[in-house]
Amino acid sequence: MELELEDDAVCNPSDNEELRSVVEVSLTRRQILQGALGAAAVAFIGGPKTVLAQSASRLGFTSVPSSQEDQVLLPDGYTHQVVTDWGDPVSGGPRWDPSSASGADEQAAQMGMHADGLRFFSLPQGSDSSSRGILCVNNEYTDEGLLHQGGLQPITADKVRKSQAAHGVTIVEISLNGDRWEVVRPSSFGRRLTAYTPMRFAGPAAGHPLLQTSTDPAGLNPRGTLNNCAMGATPWGTYLTCEENFNQYFGRGPASAAQTAGQRRYGLPSAASARGWETQDGRFDAAREPNEFNRFGWVVEIDPYDPNSTPVKHTALGRIAHEGATVTLARDGRVVVYMGDDSQNEYVYKFVSRDAYTGNRAAAFSLLDAGTLYVARFASDGSGQWVELTQGVNGLDAASGFASQADVVTFARLAADRVGATKMDRPEWITVHPQTGEIYVTLTNNTTRGSTGGAVDAANPRANNVFGHIVRWNEAGSDAAAATFRWNVFVLAGDPRSAEAAKRGNIKGDAFGSPDGLWIDGRGVLWIQTDISTSAINAGDYANIGNNMMLAADPVSGEIKRFLTGPRGCEITGVHGTPDGRNLFVSVQHPGEPASGDNNPSNRGAISTWPDGPGIGVPRSATIVIRRTDGGIVGS
Ligand code: FEO
Ligand code: CA
Ligand code: CA
Repeated sequence: MELELEDDAVCNPSDNEELRSVVEVSLTRRQILQGALGAAAVAFIGGPKTVLAQSASRLGFTSVPSSQEDQVLLPDGYTHQVVTDWGDPVSGGPRWDPSSASGADEQAAQMGMHADGLRFFSLPQGSDSSSRGILCVNNEYTDEGLLHQGGLQPITADKVRKSQAAHGVTIVEISLNGDRWEVVRPSSFGRRLTAYTPMRFAGPAAGHPLLQTSTDPAGLNPRGTLNNCAMGATPWGTYLTCEENFNQYFGRGPASAAQTAGQRRYGLPSAASARGWETQDGRFDAAREPNEFNRFGWVVEIDPYDPNSTPVKHTALGRIAHEGATVTLARDGRVVVYMGDDSQNEYVYKFVSRDAYTGNRAAAFSLLDAGTLYVARFASDGSGQWVELTQGVNGLDAASGFASQADVVTFARLAADRVGATKMDRPEWITVHPQTGEIYVTLTNNTTRGSTGGAVDAANPRANNVFGHIVRWNEAGSDAAAATFRWNVFVLAGDPRSAEAAKRGNIKGDAFGSPDGLWIDGRGVLWIQTDISTSAINAGDYANIGNNMMLAADPVSGEIKRFLTGPRGCEITGVHGTPDGRNLFVSVQHPGEPASGDNNPSNRGAISTWPDGPGIGVPRSATIVIRRTDGGIVGS
């Protein structure tokens, strides 16, 4: 069955209309594009001090044409291979077999479904090896029609357990042998996190009654992680996995009461869920276990180097539909985490740790436990402000429903409403330029902008924004802990052939839309990945854009070139390279995904059979690695 991801859901009814004054300011597009960011590169504390080259293109490849083919296409001189795909054993045991109806236990020892954000960690720990490492990959969600032979119905407890086991995170040890990457088996690093992996809470909401359940009355020991979308990585070598559209896993049950404001604001289904987990597992029935819903929507820290470590849900970073958690360091060494809340008209957040990172790894594991959470306001004049979300500050008090910091972080969306944050066009990934310290965020699209979603503003300048855009900013004093910033629009995506001027965008290069994944590599190349919904791909406004893709952009010149096109029905998401720049890992998610509402599993195979080809007849998500055939730097 096709499951509604609900990342288009609108749960923000607040009327702190973002920067209403913006529309009165009559900002021209030219002003928006010029914004405040000068060409001068600034040194970035904690990163290389290289100054950007201002002239020659750093994108030394020939663009790939848009494609509707069922394969991964790359520029001449590049090759790719699957590193690990759905059903691949993480350390040992059986591999996925299309002829078998394997169960939850097998799935829990194999690569999960629908690969998403990822990160390569060099082995041994502390090295900068580019030939051996640990690959962490999020498994965002499941296609129940593909997961169960014969489909989800009739739903059973075993099917729900298998689905829960296909979610979470996959961790594998990989090594480069010749020019092929292989999963190392057995490996002590091989590990799966699922919807039932034991975890613990840390930070201001840990132990709070909002997080207490019948099976965890102390509110300290949650189970599992869900809808793991994008991610982050810390300087001390841990992986941050982010819980995005967790609301879809909960149902209200037949005798449910009216929803609370918090349940509504986080999109708890008002009745049965499409997945039906609540019919087989009382944890996910919000009428029976109302606080379990509050135990998702967090950033989870995982130590990939210690397979016995307990993952930690860091409540200080707030509870939202977390796309990612991008980490950098302030001038004084405090840890700064940038986070997007991917739903229409949601916000961009920043966390600044109380204490500084000193290089002591053991001490670093508590750095995300305490600090200050902020939410962004983008003003029409190119300035921006980080507004503090602290109990007792900015009107966040008991009278307004925030009696403690646990209330603030658990209902961070409500707190951000209260302080008048800027509603954005679905904030997805965020990346920090390693040389300039500039921060980039993808705003994937927002069809409600200019209508039900609120007025057009400077940072979200197009009504019915079907193609999305990328905004960038520079913190005051180039200090990530600053309270203010200067921002501009890096690019408005679109199709230059569109009949509507507002949809053509201003891309200097190849057409794209719905930017999502984002990462700046060590050379300063901005990699952009797209997530055009299956219903929109190759139709309507997207008729000329082709399958989802990855592009490379030069932040200095603005040049953008298409580098990869994916198979039919897929999303391209998740990107990270080895330290030497010669291997680029990318996830190909949900190839063959049919249009919304198509519940026939066989239709997936009719759309795509990637990566196996027509022989097996079933498409599978996978993480691939891209290399140059001459062994050179990818993208150069
Ligand atoms: Fe899971 Fe917002 O992408
Ligand atoms: Ca995404
Ligand atoms: Ca997306």
